[in-house]
Amino acid sequence: MPHPLEELRKAARREIESASDAQSLEAARVKYLGRSGSISSWGEQMKTLGKDEKPTVGKLLNHVRNAVTAAIEERAQKFRTERESDALANIDISLPGTRHERGSLHPLTQMLDRSIDIFRRMGFALADGPDIEDEWHCFDALNTPPDHPARNEQDTFYLPDGRLLRTHTSTVQIRAMQAAPPPMRVIAPGACYRRDEIDATHSAQFHQIEGLYVDENVSVADLKGTLEFFMRELFGPETAVRFLPDHFPFTEPSLQIHVRSKALKRGEQWIEVAGCGMVHPAVFEAVNKARGDAAYDPEKWTGFAFGLGMDRLAMILFDIPDIRLFAQNDLRFLRQFA
Ligand code: DAH
Repeated sequence: MPHPLEELRKAARREIESASDAQSLEAARVKYLGRSGSISSWGEQMKTLGKDEKPTVGKLLNHVRNAVTAAIEERAQKFRTERESDALANIDISLPGTRHERGSLHPLTQMLDRSIDIFRRMGFALADGPDIEDEWHCFDALNTPPDHPARNEQDTFYLPDGRLLRTHTSTVQIRAMQAAPPPMRVIAPGACYRRDEIDATHSAQFHQIEGLYVDENVSVADLKGTLEFFMRELFGPETAVRFLPDHFPFTEPSLQIHVRSKALKRGEQWIEVAGCGMVHPAVFEAVNKARGDAAYDPEKWTGFAFGLGMDRLAMILFDIPDIRLFAQNDLRFLRQFA
């Protein structure tokens, strides 16, 4: 006479094979393998068996449990395959696939890449600093007095803890000099933030490339040569560049840079594109104080610095009439620069 476990296996097998869908198969699984299923309760009964019976029955129980589990899995796999082929049967494989839209580089990114490329050729390395800054890096170290209008809450975004969103990338000059002694030749591209009234030429977020060159005997001639070369590489060899006096607390003398080129749509008019100047000795002194040494001795080293408006440059180069277009994410705008 076959062992009752054998009978159980046969019954289970019949039931599994006649299950017509996933639901009835699950019912069979619960019936045999569920926590209070019949195979599981055999496991409980094992405890009551005598020493000589235990090994044989235990072995048989394992065998039955494995066989039932395998049969259920096999049947479940069959249902899954059927379901998949049903789904596939309704697909017309001759239909064209879904096209992936191909993006392109944002005009500001293109502008940035071109600019970095030009400065790289002149030996400038990339430097970096945080968008959220402290007042010291943004103003104090840059020789900006506490009552300077740029520090006003009307002009600068302050965080509750007293930190701020940097209003220019000149902060990175300071960070670069804190990190390494001269000679120094870096550019620092990045976003800046000001509480400006927003219009076609002003945005609360805009972009600059900061530049800093410190070495022995650096003069205004080096500054002019470097930035003239940059502008002509960017806008073409016929570009005229002029330097006008200006004022920044962190440079002496301070200059603003204008360009004009027939090759550009707005060619006939001078356009201001940057501020620059010779690094103020007070900036070197502030850096020395923070470093705790005299690495930037203003008697030994001189330097020039500049801040280029990336948005402005891109607007000139690509003839873009409104700065707000950069951030509106309108594909009709962006596609024109693909
Ligand atoms: N930080 C100035 C601004 O945002 C631009 C500037 C002027 C940067 C002179 C400089 C500089 O490094 O030397 O308007």
